[in-house]
Amino acid sequence: MNDIQNRADVELLVNDFYEKVHKDFDLAPVFVMPEEEWERHITRVVNFWENWLFQTGSYNGGMMWVHLQANQKHGLTTERFERWLALWFMTTDTLFSGPKAEFVKNKALEIGQIMNAKMNSST
Ligand code: HEM
Repeated sequence: MNDIQNRADVELLVNDFYEKVHKDFDLAPVFVMPEEEWERHITRVVNFWENWLFQTGSYNGGMMWVHLQANQKHGLTTERFERWLALWFMTTDTLFSGPKAEFVKNKALEIGQIMNAKMNSST
């Protein structure tokens, strides 16, 4: 099995991930949006990961704000974070193997934990 090597691989990963998300009872409703917004979302997520993996400068930031908005609208619960991360890990492991595959799992876990703590910690 190959590691993630280029933008096309990132697109494959992100699209396969969202295929699972769309079939997930709990997560799917959060990601219902008009086709045009959806395409913009996918592009931004692919840019985000491409930038982390290959330092392309293709992502200009602001992700925490986006999730604070999403939390207000839908409620990003701890259960939803756990499910999101489980699907991300599962998708990555099905498609790729190597340091970059490990990186996208570790980075998502790190960011997910920070977001979850911001949104759902009681202290
Ligand atoms: C409960 C878990 C999560 C839910 C339900 C969720 C949901 C969302 C939603 C609704 C958006 C905005 C879509 C739009 O209107 O364009 C978004 C954007 C995004 N999410 Fe998440 N998210 C979750 C966790 C994560 C995690 C752990 C990461 C880790 C990397 C991540 C990465 C991103 C990125 C990169 C964007 C694009 C931000 C931008 O437009 O600048 N998400 N997410």
